[in-house]
Amino acid sequence: MKALVLSGGSGTRLRPFSYSMPKQLIPIANKPVLAHVLENIRSIGVTEIGVIVAGDGAPIREAFGDGTRFGVRLTYIPQETPSGLAACVTLAGAFLGDDDFVMYLGDNILPEGIEEIAERFAADRPAAQVVVHKVADPTAFGVVELDPEGRVTRLVEKPRQPRSDLALIGVYFFTSAIHEAVAAIEPSARGELEITDAVQWLLATGGEVRATQYEGYWKDTGRVDDVLDCNRKLLDELLPSVTGTVDAHSVIKGQVVVEQGACIVRSTIEGPTIIGAGTRVEDSHVGPYTSIGEGCVLRDAQLAGSIALAGASVIGVTGLHGSLIGRSATVGRAARHRLVVGDHTSVEVAA
Ligand code: DAU
Repeated sequence: MKALVLSGGSGTRLRPFSYSMPKQLIPIANKPVLAHVLENIRSIGVTEIGVIVAGDGAPIREAFGDGTRFGVRLTYIPQETPSGLAACVTLAGAFLGDDDFVMYLGDNILPEGIEEIAERFAADRPAAQVVVHKVADPTAFGVVELDPEGRVTRLVEKPRQPRSDLALIGVYFFTSAIHEAVAAIEPSARGELEITDAVQWLLATGGEVRATQYEGYWKDTGRVDDVLDCNRKLLDELLPSVTGTVDAHSVIKGQVVVEQGACIVRSTIEGPTIIGAGTRVEDSHVGPYTSIGEGCVLRDAQLAGSIALAGASVIGVTGLHGSLIGRSATVGRAARHRLVVGDHTSVEVAA
């Protein structure tokens, strides 16, 4: 069994971050989304992993190399334009051969893992085993309809009027039967070859398609609010450890990680919160539910429910919450509001 991880795409809903980095590298609890994905694949014993990357995928190659650090072997498969999830299967044809494989969307997080689903697929080996989760707004997802016995009757990509509230999660198990399906379908209205249509094709031509309902926490980290929500969820599982330094005037409350070389001075860190390696926090209140990356500087700052990426600084600003602060970005204080706002960026200023 192999794995195919989809880490290309354009990440339009995560602008401006996705202008400068693939969205799969956004850190959640200080670890890229893609690292969480690879760990889940490794935990079902699959180590041969193809990774679809946009263009030459340089930032992802740089971060993950050949995969040895994660106990896996990565084969990068470049994709020129994001032509759809089913197009990725075609692109990976030579890598996949006739093997069964799990296709895993590189922006999906399932903290409870995929062991049970993998076991069910290995036992029954249907042509396709999809995973579904009840959602409030199915229009943003592929939607699966089931009959009263739980058999799949139809799959539709992002329907305007969904006939079920079961969204397709980005984890699919396939036998080699999927290759004929992806070759048979036509591009959708949004111009992409949809994997949902390929699975529907399998179903319509008599292939066996099963759906497993996933009850655990799941997020497609395609938007900033989803990234922050997921960060909160993963921080809840944080195992406290302090390897950096905390001075006598600081207070550490609850589940807190202070990584090596981080320095906490006259500050309160309220868990669950993680402070990255080499970060300096002075006269500040950080947390709860906050992840601060490596090499950041926080001075006279107060922030909660937020993520700061590596090298960011927040100086003299209090009351920050629900914020996502980019790499080496600076948030500072001024007598009047002065904003330098990037394209497609959203800023909310308190009245
Ligand atoms: O997250 C679950 C949803 O993912 C499913 O419910 C939908 O049925 C499925 O189509 C997909 O919808 P999205 O619109 O969220 O897909 P997105 O464009 O975000 O792509 C998912 C991942 O695949 C992401 O990591 C980017 C990558 N990708 C995407 C395309 C279109 C590629 O690597 N190449 C591509 O051509």
